[in-house]
Amino acid sequence: MDLGKFTSNGRSSSLVWIVAGGLAIILGGLVLASFTPSIFPTEGSVQAQQVDTLFRFMLFIGGAIFLLVNGVLLFSIIRFRAKPGDMSDGPPIQGNTTLEFVWTVIPAIIVFVLTIYSFQVWTSITAPQENEQVVNVTGQRFAWSFNYDITDDNLPEGVTLEQLPEQTREVYTNGDVVSFSSPQLHTWVGQPVHVLLNSQDVNHSFWIPGMRIKQDLLPGRQTDIRFTPIEEGVYRIACAELCGSGHGAMAGTVGDDDSLQGAWLIVHPDEQTFLREFYNPEAQKVLFPPEDPVELGRQILASGKYPCATCHSLSSLNWTGAQAPNLDGIGTRAGTRISGTNAHDYIHDSIRNPTHFVVPGFQPIMPQFSDDPGALTYMPEEDLEAIIAFLLTQ
Ligand code: CUA
Repeated sequence: MDLGKFTSNGRSSSLVWIVAGGLAIILGGLVLASFTPSIFPTEGSVQAQQVDTLFRFMLFIGGAIFLLVNGVLLFSIIRFRAKPGDMSDGPPIQGNTTLEFVWTVIPAIIVFVLTIYSFQVWTSITAPQENEQVVNVTGQRFAWSFNYDITDDNLPEGVTLEQLPEQTREVYTNGDVVSFSSPQLHTWVGQPVHVLLNSQDVNHSFWIPGMRIKQDLLPGRQTDIRFTPIEEGVYRIACAELCGSGHGAMAGTVGDDDSLQGAWLIVHPDEQTFLREFYNPEAQKVLFPPEDPVELGRQILASGKYPCATCHSLSSLNWTGAQAPNLDGIGTRAGTRISGTNAHDYIHDSIRNPTHFVVPGFQPIMPQFSDDPGALTYMPEEDLEAIIAFLLTQ
């Protein structure tokens, strides 16, 4: 090919420059797009892959536009700079229909493509899956709790209906569901999870960065979100909506002894491991509660069924909350708070009716745990008595 034909006249030479510049911009956009997601957390779910691919595509377009704008700017600064001593104005440019047409149509096409693509990703990541594990999530100031239903067909290994304590069997036969609560969300690789979100007080936002899912919780209305983990491991869960002074406590933390505290997502390698290490032991505790009320109370509090750990500290359970009174030694202190009220009644009243007496120096942020089974903050009297029995030993 005779290159001289192109380089010999100015028009062909600038065409070469424009094509080269265009290629550089597109390549640069691709480079930017492929490198940036390396700072993201692990792609832990099917949804994460889709979201990241969409992100890379947007970053490619954004990166190319960034290079184009700054390239032209830099080029113009150098190429069209004033010669020494030149004080004249630039030529008066009065509009250019072709140029205006191009800069309207190209962005319109980009926005159109992005709209279709994003909508497709959204539809796909929110679509119901077969065989979903349904987990009820309750958000409240300042903790998450994850509730698992024990149904007839997923009783722990080796447990039959006949073996259950009489009361529990009755519940089953009445068609009610027995459920247990955990401060952590447990599932396994390949299992689609459908998370149902309910707030007990204000707006929160349920966020698992590793799964690339985030969904607001609205009081009085159930919201939901889905994910399918593809990689075993431990993933951080956080609240992404400023919800009060303890908002930061709605994110999982790691204790001094490397123990997980608060909300975390634990993805087990397979269903058997999930059942063996989490589901069966937790379900057993609910189906066969210990007879000793002190031990029962300890189990209830340690299970995270009630979010006390977020605000209170208690050494025997490794609680480190700071927004509410320290519970160490509450057994001896409780009887002295209000004269004429014994320790048992004082604790009972502080849980059922927390605003009745607020310990000086603290805010009245303690939720009221109701004896009404229909209430979101329902605490059965049996649970309360067991908790009191345990706290009195502290
Ligand atoms: Cu809940 Cu922030």
